[in-house]
Amino acid sequence: MLEEKIKQITDDFNSDIKSVEDIQKLEEIRIKYLGRNGVVSSLFDELKKASNEEKPALGKSLNLLRNKITEDFNSIKTRFESLDDLKEIKIDLTLPGTRRQIGSKHILTQTLDEIKTIFQSMGFSVYEGPELESDYYNFEALNFAPDHPARDMQDTFFINKDFVLRTHTSPVQIRLMESHKPPVRAIMPGRVYRNEAVSARSYCMFHQVEGLYVDTDVTFAELKGTLVSFAKQFYGDDLKYRFRTSFFPFTEPSAEMDITCFLCHGGGCKVCKQTGWLEILGCGMVDPNVFKYVGYDSEKYTGYAFGMGIERTAMLKYGIDDIRVFFENDLRFLKQF
Ligand code: DAH
Repeated sequence: MLEEKIKQITDDFNSDIKSVEDIQKLEEIRIKYLGRNGVVSSLFDELKKASNEEKPALGKSLNLLRNKITEDFNSIKTRFESLDDLKEIKIDLTLPGTRRQIGSKHILTQTLDEIKTIFQSMGFSVYEGPELESDYYNFEALNFAPDHPARDMQDTFFINKDFVLRTHTSPVQIRLMESHKPPVRAIMPGRVYRNEAVSARSYCMFHQVEGLYVDTDVTFAELKGTLVSFAKQFYGDDLKYRFRTSFFPFTEPSAEMDITCFLCHGGGCKVCKQTGWLEILGCGMVDPNVFKYVGYDSEKYTGYAFGMGIERTAMLKYGIDDIRVFFENDLRFLKQF
């Protein structure tokens, strides 16, 4: 009798549990079968009345039934609970994804990359030197007389009597020649510092690219050819340019290169101070005195050098009228490039 009941109740439970739809229904089933006055405990009451011979086998199947019901109940309960968690998170799988923001190269880096690519295609390698520089490299070996106005406190950040924050990238020329025998052909980019009032036109820190080529028979014509080729590749083929005589202690003769103003195209405006021209770089033939400092034979070798500001170069190319925007990290500016 009891044996049949156990079978019957197993079948009932299986069909009850199949149709359960939510956690409340599940709880009702638990109470019906496992509750204090539930079906299972009433079967245990009946077991007491069974004969001693029958008791062990019946007790065993009753225990099996109780365990099966408990296990089924628990596993269905966890399933319902994790479904509930999902409802809490409220994931809408049909929504479009959020795009990850990626950075981009700063316009100065892009400009320098472009300058490097052009000069590398003409056989120049890239060389770098320190930003904290001795007076010797920044001035003396570049043929600056001891009383030259560029050493003045107004332009130079002095660290102490002997060391400065380099005011230009020209000292890297000296380091390059000291460590390499001719021929040398390299550009030397880097940060430079000037103790000047910050304004739309000048900043206390900016970037330059230096260039140097030393070999036997290097001529001024080659210097012009190289710089014109650079300027046309960088600013465009229809570029108009001119070379003006100038002075730098480390070059003789010295020149500056101008291109037509990006704004008025040569007509004359505020940006070019009505001249129609804008200076893009300084250059010249390496002064024989500089060769003496680095131990090059100035009877055998000649060379040319040039230097340009990277901010200035970018400003001219893209028509930017305030140098400070390069360092403010305003995304509205940076995103334009
Ligand atoms: N060092 C110069 C400056 O900061 C730029 C310069 C001019 C570099 C002529 C050169 C050069 O190598 O030949 O203004």
